[in-house]
Parts: sequence; structure tokens; C-alpha cells
Amino acid sequence: MTSTTDIHPAAFPPRLQAAGTTDAPFRPLLDATALPEGTMRRVTVGELDVLLVNTDHGVFATEDRCPHMSAPLSIGELDGCIVSCPLHEGRFDLVSGDTAQMPTTGGLDADGTYHPTWSPAGKDPKVDPPGKKAEARRLTRVRRLRYYPVRIADGAIEVAIPER
Ligand code: FES
Repeated sequence: MTSTTDIHPAAFPPRLQAAGTTDAPFRPLLDATALPEGTMRRVTVGELDVLLVNTDHGVFATEDRCPHMSAPLSIGELDGCIVSCPLHEGRFDLVSGDTAQMPTTGGLDADGTYHPTWSPAGKDPKVDPPGKKAEARRLTRVRRLRYYPVRIADGAIEVAIPER
């Protein structure tokens, strides 16, 4: 059982802090006891779906949209600090914000390097039939995660969210 004294914010790369959050007010999103270590939850604030993840590095808050094609990461899998997307099996490292495994569709990584579609070991990469869908997959860039600052106050997980 997680006590509120065990839970703490995780450090994230400062350059990956979400836009507009530096002076944003902290809002209580969830009772700290509702997020045991090793779990993740979506909490919606207005139009923003926030993904809260409690890991052995602490609590991360990021948008609940895959950095590939926006699927909800909250219904994916969590393995330590790696969250897996349910749609194309992309895996993302919460500590670094980087892609740990490219989506099966391939495409561009955060630095703009092209990766082909996934293929089983020993087989040639699948060649997409030419067309807009293939072009869209090839040109879709997998971004790095962006983070919302977290604090724990009065037993609640609070997240800095810009006012809109
Ligand atoms: S939407 Fe998540 S890997 Fe494609």
C-alpha cells in the first residue's frame, strides 16, 4: 500500500517541460493513494487528458496522447519507466522522454531520421503500396514526451496546467 509520504515527483529533462507550464498554477488531480507505484491513470482537465504515472523514479505527468499518432497511453502497458502504446507498439522512456522502440509503422524519429516499417527478424521490411497513407506513415515524426511539473501537497498529486 502506497502512503502519501512515499510518493514524490520524478525529475524530467528540463528542455522537455510542456509549453506554458513554468508559471502555471498547480491543480490537485488525484489523491496520492489512488496511484500506487507501477500504475498509471488518465485525469482529464478541460480539453487536456493528463497521464499520471507512478514509477520507482517518482510521479511523471505527461499528455495522455502517444507522441506518434495520439493514442491514449493510459490503456497501454507500463514496464518500469517504459510505457508502451496500445496502437503500434511504440515504447517510450519516461526518464529521458525518448522513444525506446519505434512504432511498427516506422516513420521519422524525433531527430528526423527515417525508420522503415517493422518486419519480423530475417525478413525484408514490408513495402507499403505507394499512396498518401504510405507517405503519411513515412512522414509522421515521433516526438519526445513533454512533461507537466508535479508536486505532492495535502495528500494530493498536483500538476501545473496552463490556464486557457
Ligand atoms: S499511436 Fe502510439 S505507437 Fe502509434
